[in-house]
Amino acid sequence: MTEPAQFNTDNAVNDEAVTAFETSAPSPSSDCKGFEVRHLVKQYANADKPVLNDISFKVEHGTVLVVLGPSGSGKSTLLRTIAGLEPIQGGTISINDQVIDEGRPGTEKAGRSNRSSALRTRIGMVFQSYDLFPNKTVLGNITMAPLLVQKRDKAQVEAEALKLLDRVGLADRKDAWPHELSGGQRQRVAICRALILHPEVLLLDEITAALDPEMVREVLDVVLELAKAGQTMLIVTHEMQFARAIADHVILLDGGHIVEESHDAYAFFAHPQTERARQFLHTFEFE
Ligand SMILES: Nc1ncnc2c1ncn2[C@@H]1O[C@H](COP(=O)(O)OP(=O)(O)OP(=O)(O)O)[C@@H](O)[C@H]1O
Ligand SMILES: [Mg+2]
Repeated sequence: MTEPAQFNTDNAVNDEAVTAFETSAPSPSSDCKGFEVRHLVKQYANADKPVLNDISFKVEHGTVLVVLGPSGSGKSTLLRTIAGLEPIQGGTISINDQVIDEGRPGTEKAGRSNRSSALRTRIGMVFQSYDLFPNKTVLGNITMAPLLVQKRDKAQVEAEALKLLDRVGLADRKDAWPHELSGGQRQRVAICRALILHPEVLLLDEITAALDPEMVREVLDVVLELAKAGQTMLIVTHEMQFARAIADHVILLDGGHIVEESHDAYAFFAHPQTERARQFLHTFEFE
């Protein structure tokens, strides 16, 4: 049995992330404090039409957007473009009104967006597959990027890594190897690895989809506590009860477009406005 996630919401690490975010805001009169995608177009090479076509939404600082949609609707693609892992062919992605990626037609074959590594670290991402480095301990996995990429001080980075591990209930596993951990524990380490870079926006792509049911809860509890602590997040999940509990804002993707958007998650799940959303939500009901 794995231990339950322990979380201190007054933890200084997230406060630092939140403070860093607030102080990087351009001005109090700024239009969008937070994160914004405008008219985003994404097309893969050799595809006859875009996967995402004219997608626009805003995520206010400190809030959670849940992205829903059927398989193949482009949820992972959306998160990957926001993370800078895929070039975009139209539109813009911005944080606090600063454009961090701009669409360029004809870039379908480019491997990544041309975003700088400084801009890249402003957005963190955790994937469905636990992609920890097998030849590094838990502590080594978490401290690698801040030490090698950000060249931060080793003692300070290690102290912060230990605080993060404590928050997710894994302080006693700092010297373990990834193969010695359960799937749920590995995902909690992957979350720490993203958080130590102080991302202004955290993207979670079906992070519990590959877990045994009893491990899902321990990971979702960590994410709920992050939301309470004010971490801005975009979450793709098939856990509908969790989605309803955590979402400030929901979008449903289908056919390359946003087919329904709501800033009232309870209303969206109880009374979807479109036939497409009703059909989609119905697939999660069993009678
Ligand atoms: N690297 C790629 N090259 C070409 N096409 C791709 C690539 N990645 C995804 N696609 C296509 O883009 C579409 C959207 O895929 P995506 O993985 O974003 O969907 P999804 O909504 O995340 O689906 P799922 O719920 O199954 O994870 C699919 O038709 C997929 O085949
Ligand atoms: Mg996906």
